[in-house]
Amino acid sequence: MAAPALHGRVGLLCALLSVVQFSLGENKVLTAVNITWSSLNFKTLLLWKPEPKNYSYTVEIDGDLSERKKVCNRISQTECDLTNWMKNLREMYVARIYSEGPYSEENIDTPPYEISPPFTPYTQTEIGKPRIKNFTQEGKILRVEIEDPLTPIRFANGSFQNIRDIFKDDLEYTLTYWKDQSTGKKWVAAKSNKFDIQIDAGKSYCFFVQATIMSRINNRDGQKSDQVCTGVNRNDLDGLPLESILIIAFGAIAVLMLIIALPVIVYRCRRSKSAATMKENIPPNL
Ligand SMILES: *[C@@H]1O[C@H](CO)[C@@H](O)[C@H](O)[C@H]1NC(C)=O
Ligand SMILES: *[C@@H]1O[C@H](CO)[C@@H](O)[C@H](O)[C@H]1NC(C)=O
Ligand SMILES: *[C@@H]1O[C@H](CO)[C@@H](O)[C@H](O)[C@H]1NC(C)=O
Ligand SMILES: *[C@@H]1O[C@H](CO)[C@@H](O)[C@H](O)[C@H]1NC(C)=O
Repeated sequence: MAAPALHGRVGLLCALLSVVQFSLGENKVLTAVNITWSSLNFKTLLLWKPEPKNYSYTVEIDGDLSERKKVCNRISQTECDLTNWMKNLREMYVARIYSEGPYSEENIDTPPYEISPPFTPYTQTEIGKPRIKNFTQEGKILRVEIEDPLTPIRFANGSFQNIRDIFKDDLEYTLTYWKDQSTGKKWVAAKSNKFDIQIDAGKSYCFFVQATIMSRINNRDGQKSDQVCTGVNRNDLDGLPLESILIIAFGAIAVLMLIIALPVIVYRCRRSKSAATMKENIPPNL
């Protein structure tokens, strides 16, 4: 008689223990790990891990010249956009990521936190793809005009500043160019957004541009622009991206197949219809 009762109690205890363990596991507050900055043209996000379960994160930004500010309050995501709090672009910032359990009045201790690596927008933000605004090839001159990428940083009048407004003469562009279908590349660099280069007349040229921040020691080069070819003496199709060519080709094949198949289908339909009418004409008892 005693044995089953004991067994029952132990079973209950085990069940109870596992419930306690389960809720402990569920409510565990973890501090942020793998904290990284992701910043492109001065739009700056802080990213970290892990996804929170039953707790939330609060991010506090701290510049070496400005006061600490809480920014993303009690969020359950693992990213925080700090762009608007890092407008002093040469300032070095760090962020604290607090891991906060559910709010309670008894618990007024500083929640556990982790500190991000430092980040200085001016020296660390990645420079994005510039756009080729215009180009012309006339005789022996290839003229290229570059559009500066915009940033989320505004002028006093509200319009957005581009990277030239921010970096001024610290920004240089490099134009890399080559004769179409050849591999020998040449490049020129200038603090200007316009290039006039000497080329062979009547030949097609391809090029891309890339920004460089001269004062930087690391990540000096920005992303490369799309590649453009001038298309002199080229087939019109060459200027199109591969996907467009494929879509056009598939479209053409589909139309061709339809043209070929249509008479066959029509013929078959007619035949089966006439077969059906023929059957109808046959007396049912045959
Ligand atoms: C943090 O990064 C390391 C190395 O990349 C990885 O092994 C680890 O799983 C990451 N931690 C989390 C919680 O994602
Ligand atoms: C903990 O989170 C889970 C989902 O992740 C939820 O179902 C559960 O109700 C939460 N528990 C508490 C005590 O908030
Ligand atoms: C492109 O440049 C050429 C020559 O510099 C100029 O005549 C033309 O107006 C420009 N086109 C645009 C869209 O700016
Ligand atoms: C705003 O100010 C900047 C520089 O002061 C100027 O370049 C820009 O044209 C202005 N924008 C407008 C819309 O007035």
